[in-house]
Amino acid sequence: MNVMVIGRGGREHALAWKLKQDGHHVFVAPGNAFMEGMTCVSINETDVEALARFAEETNIEWTIVGPESSLMAGVVDTFCAKGLNIFGPTKAAALLEGSKAFAKEVMMEAGIPTAAYEAFTDAESALSYIQKLGAPLVVKADGLAAGKGVTVAFTVEEAEAAVRDIFTTDKFGQQSQVVIEEFLDGEEFSLMAFVSGERVIPMITSQDHKRAYDGDKGPNTGGMGAYSPMPHLSEDVYEEAVKTVLEPLAQTMVKRGTPFEGFLYAGLILTSSGPKVIEFNARFGDPETEVILPNLKSPLLDVIQTVIRKEPYSIEWVEGYTMGVVIAAKGYPDRPVTGQVLSGFETLPQDVLVFHAGTAQQDGQIVGNGGRLLVITATKSTLLEAKTAVYEAIAQLDLPDTFYRIDIGSRAFTQII
Ligand code: AMP
Ligand code: GLY
Repeated sequence: MNVMVIGRGGREHALAWKLKQDGHHVFVAPGNAFMEGMTCVSINETDVEALARFAEETNIEWTIVGPESSLMAGVVDTFCAKGLNIFGPTKAAALLEGSKAFAKEVMMEAGIPTAAYEAFTDAESALSYIQKLGAPLVVKADGLAAGKGVTVAFTVEEAEAAVRDIFTTDKFGQQSQVVIEEFLDGEEFSLMAFVSGERVIPMITSQDHKRAYDGDKGPNTGGMGAYSPMPHLSEDVYEEAVKTVLEPLAQTMVKRGTPFEGFLYAGLILTSSGPKVIEFNARFGDPETEVILPNLKSPLLDVIQTVIRKEPYSIEWVEGYTMGVVIAAKGYPDRPVTGQVLSGFETLPQDVLVFHAGTAQQDGQIVGNGGRLLVITATKSTLLEAKTAVYEAIAQLDLPDTFYRIDIGSRAFTQII
């Protein structure tokens, strides 16, 4: 069948790869130069009218949305109004990601465990709350900030500086609200699900590595690598997260009259009193998608259609593990160097997948033109084998002016929960 993926990064490359594996003719808008065997269509992710027109004219039977920018531009609302099949939340439901204050409000209503918080629309009140609470605490710019609007402050001064940055500079985009919340201590993990109304089909767990450098040092990024599933996370914790987070969230969104349909992402911290939410995303995670989809045996559209029809479904996963390491441009996340020529891909083993994000094709060469350039993954029967295969593949490549973390998965190897 004709299917379309909206977006252009590594996540969309993985979605398109999976749909192609499942036997579909895959269109990607706008896609990138390295989506082999897929048809790229030069329509911007947020040009929702043009996307809908293309879907109508090309008989696209299903559209899958990658980035939050398309959701917030109302792509699902527009497609639904025209009777086109699309999997993703409406603009109203995507606000779960688009506004941290809104997400907190819904969590309170649903009784979902999360960090205590307050939202402020002016710097002065925020600053006096920080004085009252003391460090450590977390300061979050309210709107979308590409994963960069969060400061984990270990001193009051750091927290104050973050509030001033948010209200007086445009470092995090135009922000008018700040959320200040309790610091949660524990291991972070991601749990995503296919959701339609009250129906929730959870995926396997994954773990991202958000800090730029080894040992979880350096600035927060969009994610430097991930693996799935987490061998050290117990079945009990997984069940608890499904029952106390995903299901009540889906039910509450229905009750509020803004049912959620699409990929729901819960960013969680396993505290001493169980899993607590640090964020929701209204889409597939990146780089989590790149490590979850190679593990998904069931055809993606089968899962989506059954969740929508509320039919019973037993999702099938590979008996193994996938690890993905992000190759980032030197200087990322602040000032990534661009124009580096990346090479050596021809001789990689068949089972190593390379998903492209911030790259472009120039004179037949692969060059960097963004922050996160590639996600390199391998799927093996153990996590250690997957890790060995990924890092051996990376060692074969020529990747000037880039860096990557060498400790992806280290928590799984050193910790038992
Ligand atoms: P977010 O964009 O909300 O996912 O936050 C980015 C990163 O900041 C998360 O991946 C966590 O590592 C950290 N973080 C966010 N909120 C908290 C919190 N309440 N306690 C501890 N760390 C947090
Ligand atoms: N990996 C985190 C995110 O997709 O927001």
